Formats: sequence, C-alpha cells, structure tokens
Amino acid sequence: MTIEHPTPQQAAGLRIGDFAPDFEARSTVGPVRLKDFRERWLILFSHPADFTPVCTTEFVELAREAKEFERRDCALMALSVDSLFSHFAWLRLIRDRFDVEVRFPIVEDPTLVIGRAFGMVSPQDSDSATVRSTFFIDPEGVVRAMTCYPANMGRSIPEMLRMLDALQAIDEQNGLAPANWTPGTPLLQPPSQTLDDVFAAQRETDWFLRKAGNGAEA
Ligand code: BEZ
Repeated sequence: MTIEHPTPQQAAGLRIGDFAPDFEARSTVGPVRLKDFRERWLILFSHPADFTPVCTTEFVELAREAKEFERRDCALMALSVDSLFSHFAWLRLIRDRFDVEVRFPIVEDPTLVIGRAFGMVSPQDSDSATVRSTFFIDPEGVVRAMTCYPANMGRSIPEMLRMLDALQAIDEQNGLAPANWTPGTPLLQPPSQTLDDVFAAQRETDWFLRKAGNGAEA
C-alpha cells in the first residue's frame, strides 16, 4: 500500500476544500487507487470494525441503496483496519444472511496509514479502530463535506444521499442549500456583493436571502 506523504495539515485531519490524499491499497475488488475515481463523485468512509452490529446494518443498507449512489454517478469506498480476508468473510456472511452483495470496494488499512492521513483516527490515538468518518469527494478530488459519527451510532443512508444531492445541486445551479433542503426544492441565491445592490433591493432581506430561480423571498 502506498500513500502520498501527508502535509502537516493533513496529518492533523483533512478540511473541507483540501485535495483528498491519493493512496493505493488492497480492497475487496482488487487494488484501488483513489485518483482513479476522479471525474466521478466518491464517498470514502471508514467503519470501526468488521463483524460488529452497527457496521453490519450500515453495509446492508448501503448495499441495498447502491443503485441510488450509482444513479448520481457516485462511487462508494469503505475502509477499516481489518484484513482483506476479514472483509471477505464478513461480506460472505452479509450476503448469506441478508441476501445482498456488497460490491463496492472495502479497503484494508492494517497500519492505519490511510486512516491517519484522512484524520479518521487522531495521530496520537493508540486505538486501532477508526471512527465513522465520511468524506464526500468531488470529481476534481476535493473534499467537499465530511461527517463523523461515533462507533455506537450508525449513519443515515438517506442523509448521505441528501448531502450528495445538495452538493451536486449547488455545483449545477451555483446556489446555496438552505436548512433542511431536499431535492426538488429551491436553492438560495448567493448574496449581493456590492452596496449598490444592497440599496437597490426591494425588501430589506432581498440582497442576501432570496430563493434561486424566481428570486422569491426565502
Ligand atoms: C458496531 O458497529 O456496532 C460497533 C463497532 C465498534 C464499537 C462499538 C460498536
């Protein structure tokens, strides 16, 4: 396994707007390289351990919803400290028990070199488990959003899809997603940039709080 040498900033954890560090590693679908996922969206996520209750529910649900990610031109890639053979045995069990095949790659990261570069574990942490970190990486390889859940709480797959929809809509429409935004509802317009526009606005909020499209008040 190889990884680009992380900058000091990366070693302390990635931030929104950073390029995701490239890596090459073994996975359940063969060797994978992060850079090969460019030109598509990618959700890279870590889980604490194979054969654990919450993680199993996450993988079952993700596999069931895999087509929804595909429809949005988004690849999924999971990662944990467990060995490739542990991943294989877990996926076999998931298939046999839940009748669903996990076909997206699960990377093995036994030394946590990838997990540390992404801030999935703190540099000082001696625990080998990663938390439930999720990185939304755009087609240029830039980290656009991140979430971090504790080991004892599973992620919401509908919320992962909603975040992806929001990021894609923001890019397509050059808008802003308001609180509780859902697909099919309007985005907001970016605020005015000049004092003339501020003074020219009809209502006092129109220069910074307008729906995209017809310009109605948010
Ligand atoms: C779980 O996935 O259930 C889990 C994993 C690590 C610690 C606690 C729970």
